[in-house]
Amino acid sequence: MIETFGEIDPPQRLLMGPGPVNAHPRVLRAMSADLLGQFDPEMTAYMNEVMALYRPVFGTNNRWTFLVDGTARAGIEAALVSLVAPGDTVLVVNFGRFGLLLTEILGRIGARIETVEAPWGETVPLDAVAAAIERYGPKLVATIHGDTSTTMAQPLDGFGALCAAAGALSYVDATATIGGMEIAADRWGVDVVTGGLQKCLGGPSGSAPITISDRAATHIQRRKHVERGIRRDDIDDGDGLRIGSNYFDLAMVMDYWSEKRLNHHTEATTMLYGSRECARIMLQEGVEARYARHRASGAAMTAGLRAMGLTVFGDDRYRMTNVTAAFIPNGVDAETVRRRMREDFEIEIGTAFGPLAGKVWRFGAMGYNAMKHKVLLTLAALEAVLRAEGVVLPAGEAVPAALAAWDATR
Ligand SMILES: Cc1ncc(COP(=O)(O)O)c(C=O)c1O
Repeated sequence: MIETFGEIDPPQRLLMGPGPVNAHPRVLRAMSADLLGQFDPEMTAYMNEVMALYRPVFGTNNRWTFLVDGTARAGIEAALVSLVAPGDTVLVVNFGRFGLLLTEILGRIGARIETVEAPWGETVPLDAVAAAIERYGPKLVATIHGDTSTTMAQPLDGFGALCAAAGALSYVDATATIGGMEIAADRWGVDVVTGGLQKCLGGPSGSAPITISDRAATHIQRRKHVERGIRRDDIDDGDGLRIGSNYFDLAMVMDYWSEKRLNHHTEATTMLYGSRECARIMLQEGVEARYARHRASGAAMTAGLRAMGLTVFGDDRYRMTNVTAAFIPNGVDAETVRRRMREDFEIEIGTAFGPLAGKVWRFGAMGYNAMKHKVLLTLAALEAVLRAEGVVLPAGEAVPAALAAWDATR
């Protein structure tokens, strides 16, 4: 068996789909560092540094800014199960697959779910959100920032204030945009925002950064019920309903990340090293420069696809800067194109879900891959594959158009 299962030695593939993308080499190097015990002072110092590093990433001063161990979905589930009790009314702003994921998780929690919706390819106007809040009087309003399935980004200025004025808490899933488009938790006035590493932060999946306002933290702490085996005299339970998950109980996880260092779970040390390096790289680049780089990459990708004669999906005004969807030309076998991109050029591009399945490809330019040459390589390869598949298209137009768009955006 040892001969059959060789050492892990994957091909050097360029991941230009909707995520995951290639991790920054510095992140991979940080993740090969030696392990530490979970309460080692060096380790708890790293935990505190992670909290400090992720505040500017989220655009917040929130004390409670830390990591949930698990993929981005772990962050979503931790936020929702800790904020919402069975029977609570939650309004979901739904404009794609990940809005539907929120309803799926909330359904399992036993929430009463109301939605305010937009068709795939559009976003929900703020006044429609306001009208739905008025109608349903929710305890929480939950939305996605960038829904990777539709490539649309929901505008969020004013969103948190709207919820707070109605006495509702607010939640945003920023998995697909964090590190690439501006996340402004404080300016948006949003209570809880969660993310993931594997897209614009340029890390592997497996850690979910989270930020929590003091208001939401107080609400969560009221539901604190410390598990029996680790109870301590200095930590009191709250009088709220116990959170319906142990692993995702943010009240206990916050006590783990505080100076109390409650022994909740064993922090995923290697993921913490990786998360820390993702944020360090972002802050060294500068948040504005980083957003500009993603804008330029997205503009170049979109211009190149259009110059090739492809039709880009969705409303231009609300397009995410880091993922672009283009309609698959008639008569083309979408999977053959993806296979040839992978086998001939070592480039991965993405498929789609739900109503867009089989209709569009999705092209990402995120994190370490939001670079001019990677966008140009992807476009040149796609043009070659489409021509080889018999598609008639304007030859040699995509790369110059992408270059011009890059230069115009920089
Ligand atoms: C907007 C959004 N939310 C949540 C997720 C789920 O992330 P994960 O697969 O890391 O759990 C994704 C993954 O693509 C996403 O794009």
